[in-house]
Amino acid sequence: MTIHIGAKNGEIAETVLMPGDPYRAKWAAETFLQDACLVNDVRGMLGFTGSWNGNPVTIQGSGMGMPSLSIYANELIRDFGAKTLIRIGSCGGMQKTVGLRDVILAMTATTAGSPSDTIFKEVNFAPCADWSLLQAAARAAEARDVTTHVGGIYSSDTFYDERPDLNEQMVRHGILGVEMEAAELYTLAARYGCRALAVLTVSDHLQTGEALPSDQRERSFGDMVEIALEAAFA
Ligand code: ADE
Repeated sequence: MTIHIGAKNGEIAETVLMPGDPYRAKWAAETFLQDACLVNDVRGMLGFTGSWNGNPVTIQGSGMGMPSLSIYANELIRDFGAKTLIRIGSCGGMQKTVGLRDVILAMTATTAGSPSDTIFKEVNFAPCADWSLLQAAARAAEARDVTTHVGGIYSSDTFYDERPDLNEQMVRHGILGVEMEAAELYTLAARYGCRALAVLTVSDHLQTGEALPSDQRERSFGDMVEIALEAAFA
């Protein structure tokens, strides 16, 4: 049991899927895991442990933004021994070649600021995905009927960004989509010798202004959960 996670020792699996939304954690656990049990409800940030094809899996909400994800990922890794952490979440598409409902596998996560920044001083650390997970997720995605892109994403610390020029620079440099958590997850995984990946569904688009209605989000979200589970145990 930690400050933010009420699970007992042994109740968190080495493989953890992390959606931002705790209700997505509940939905994913009830839909994809066998024998899913609630292991955390501190502050309503729900976490469930069950199994997938006989493999133990925890699905724990991360909350929105890097400061929130950082709390849960730190405790999962340092106190509960998590070894493989996969963010499953939504992102805003940035390139015209990226469409709504497409899946993005985040090879790198550029950021203007994360909770880990201060330890690097003048260095710009390059947060990147674990190769074995990325490769396995790309293969799992290929076998499904879902358009998938592999490349860099931008982990923003501001949803309502007053700096449109920054997004323009991201677009100009080929960044596929924007979300708010992956860079810190990748940095923590590097620090503690864990594997991390972000599997994202495009829920809105910064260039076209389109957005997925909420009833259609769930279906796309399912592809992402299955890709993440297949990658974790490939
Ligand atoms: N997550 C989903 N859409 C997003 C956006 N447009 N910006 C930041 N995070 C997001």
